[in-house]
Order: sequence, then structure tokens, then C-alpha cells
Amino acid sequence: MSPVPHQVFSYHSVREIQEKAEALHISLPFAEDTGALLRPAEFHGVSLPNRMGTAPMEGADSEADGSPSALTERRYLREAAGSSAVIWFEAVSIVPEGRSSAHQLYIHRGNVDAFRRMNEKLREEGLRKNGFAPYLIMQANHSGRYSNPLGKPAPLIAYRNPIYEKLRPADDTCIVSDAYLKSLEEKFGEAALLAREAGFDAVDVKACHGYLLMELLSAYTRPGKYGGSFENRSRLLLNALRAARAHETREFRVTARIGIHDGFPWPYGFGVKENGDASPDWTEARLLLQRIRDLGLEMVNLTMGNPYVNSHVSRPFNHGKYVPDEDPLMGVARMIHGIREVKRAVPGMFVYASGPSFMRQFCDLFAAGAVEQGYCDGMLFGRMAFADPDFANQILRTGRIDPKQVCVACGKCGDLIRAGKPTGCVVRDSAVYLPPYREYLAELAEKQA
Ligand SMILES: Cc1cc2nc3c(=O)[nH]c(=O)nc-3n(C[C@H](O)[C@H](O)[C@H](O)COP(=O)(O)O)c2cc1C
Repeated sequence: MSPVPHQVFSYHSVREIQEKAEALHISLPFAEDTGALLRPAEFHGVSLPNRMGTAPMEGADSEADGSPSALTERRYLREAAGSSAVIWFEAVSIVPEGRSSAHQLYIHRGNVDAFRRMNEKLREEGLRKNGFAPYLIMQANHSGRYSNPLGKPAPLIAYRNPIYEKLRPADDTCIVSDAYLKSLEEKFGEAALLAREAGFDAVDVKACHGYLLMELLSAYTRPGKYGGSFENRSRLLLNALRAARAHETREFRVTARIGIHDGFPWPYGFGVKENGDASPDWTEARLLLQRIRDLGLEMVNLTMGNPYVNSHVSRPFNHGKYVPDEDPLMGVARMIHGIREVKRAVPGMFVYASGPSFMRQFCDLFAAGAVEQGYCDGMLFGRMAFADPDFANQILRTGRIDPKQVCVACGKCGDLIRAGKPTGCVVRDSAVYLPPYREYLAELAEKQA
């Protein structure tokens, strides 16, 4: 099956992008040069050499017990060699039933050493190639309604959501109990301890992209302690952060990746107006960030959307499973302006933004503009890090990203992860990822026959 055609990126200059943005009545920050990305970053008592990071990108390539495989290690060694100051690891499951596939990383007492060995190699690689060790963050996650631990959907949901369930059916038996949610609070604490023992610098309690902690934020219709009021909907996230903070030391800190808006009409979306049109309302996201700051977190990463349902919101694309009813530049603008709106509520917090890859060879000037103009303090690059893990080195050495290496927002990495196959860039790293992509296409053709 060939992907659905969409508005293909055809810009040759920042000026052309800005003209298009003006026609769309949006604005996008651009800098004249990438200098802002080369400023040191300070948080958690450490000084990092630049404002660039690699975003969490699931690779579905773990060993059966959840340990990193040789392929996992290859992905992260390439990132460590690439000079990004931060490597924000992909979603790592904290319980077996919450894995997104049979090959999602899963950390437990039995495999901490495997994670530690990998982290030691990553630090060595960073020091050897670039003279510094990247800051390593583990993303702790429960996949919730996207749980798929044995390779077939086994949803664990917060509440019935007809929008999500059009694509992934679920029923009342999938709704998790309050007792289960309570038990997860401590599981996130245990995961933080394991992450510390595995040599990560920080742990991220993930609440974005429709997974369990994010889904709870929109559980307006759920009865009991974890639904209804804002206090109840944010209870698991905040208690999980408290449990994780119990394991903080000077060298090991807690952070969070937060979805500030998911783009679904109320009462099925978080960070939306109550008028049913799914447009953003930043009130609760601001409040949430203030609560998170009051718990003592110094740094966060902000994002949006649900990649299973409205992937154009979290990662604007050229080709995807559907044709969105907006230009991809609208998605880029919604993300960066929303992040700025929420960041304003927590002055002093270090905020990483998300979602620059659609800007292709201009993503560097876009990210630098966002930092320079105060939209964010640093940028995490997702699909770009798959396509071109050396992007930060190119920017450091030449002032610009190599246009021949950039992500083309083709959506193939998204196809691979949804299929639970080893995931990376099919276009730029084809020797490794074209074979699983071909396998995916053949299976799709068989299903459709
Ligand atoms: C294949 C794939 C895997 C991803 N895995 C994760 C993940 O494990 N955790 C997460 O928070 N986001 C994940 N994301 C979202 C990215 O971190 C990022 O937010 C998104 O791709 C937008 O950034 P970009 O425009 O730089 O790609 C994933 C995205 C893709 C395409």
C-alpha cells in the first residue's frame, strides 16, 4: 500500500516558509543562525554544553525480557556520538502488562545490569567522540490502552473514550480499578530506583500521547479517586512523581514529559475548551505545570496529541495514514505556541520543546529561533534523530544541519512502531530498517488480500 499523499514539504528558504505561515495567519520563530542552540544549558545542578537533545523514540527492538538488544545499543551509540547534550530515552515499561509490544524495553530487577552496561558504553562513546558524556534520561511508562505485551492488544483503560475506541476497541472489562492505579504510584517509584541503579541521570514520569497517565488527565467521566475533578485526574501523575522523587539524589533527578493538549473535544480531551470544538485551553496545563514545579521538578519536556489517533498534532507529517484537514505548518505552530503559553506559567523551569522535524533542513533555525525568542529553553529532535543522529555535530561544526541527511517526515518509522517491528529511519538507515519495512508491507498486503 502506498502512503496517502499530503502537502509535501517544498520550501527552499525560511522566507518561503514565513510567507506560507503568514498566508495561514500563523507565526513561526526562526533565528538568523543556530547560535542559540550552542549556549550551555543549566538544570539539576549540571551544566550541559548545548540546548539540543534527542527525543524519546521507541525502537521495539528489546530482548524478550525487556533488556536492550544489540540494535537498541546501536541506536543509542549513534545518538551518543552525535553531540546532543541530552539523550531522552524512549518509553521503558515499568510493568509487564503495560508494554506496548513484546519488544518494548521493560526495566525490572532482573535486567538493571544490562541497562547499566549500555549506559556506561554511551558515556564512553560521548567522551571519546565529543569530550562530554550526554545526560541520560529514562522515560518510565505504562502504555494503558495501548498495552500490547504479547503482540496483540490488551488495553488497560482509564475510562470509555469513543474517539480512541474507534481505532482500538475496548470494553468495560478493560477499565482499571482504583486499587490498580494506586499500586502503580509505587511502581513508578520503584522504576525510578531501578533507573538510578542503571546509571541514568534522571527518570521521566511520562504523561503524554494517550498513554495511561495522560489518559487519566481527561478522565472527567471516571468515578472515584482518579476521575472527575482536576485533583483526581492528576492524582496518579503527581503521586508517581512524589514516589519517584523519594529516590532523588544530587546526581539523579526526576523530570516529566507532559502532554499539554491532546486535541479531542471535551469531555474526551485534556487541555481543550469545553465548547466541544477541541481547540486548546491552557488553564489546566498551566495549573499542572505549577503543581509539578511545586513538587520540586526543575526541568520538563512538553508535547501534544495522541499519535495513534491524531498523529498530525504530535508530529506534523508529509505522508501518513490519513490526510489531516490542516497544513502541517499549523501543527508545528500549535505545538510551539502552546509550549510558550504553558511555559509562561512556570518561570524559572527549564522547558524542552518537541516536534521540530517537519521543518526539515530548516529545523535548526526553527529550534534556535524558539530558544532565542523564549518559546522554550531547549529542543528535543525526534524523527530527525532517527534520520540523522549526527545532526548536533553538523550544527556544532558547520553552523547548519546537513540537508542531505534530514528527516523527510515520510511516516515510515511510525508504520514500523505501530507494527511492533524494529524501528528507525527507513530512508536514511535503509540497510537496517528497509528489511523490516518490506516485511511490514508484505504483511499488510496479505491482510488486505
Ligand atoms: C517511531 C516513533 C516512536 C516514538 N516513541 C516515543 C516514545 O517512546 N516516547 C515519547 O514520549 N514519544 C515518542 N515519540 C514521539 C517523539 O518523541 C516526538 O515527540 C515526535 O516525533 C515529534 O517530534 P519530531 O517532529 O522531532 O519527530 C515517537 C515518535 C515516533 C515517530
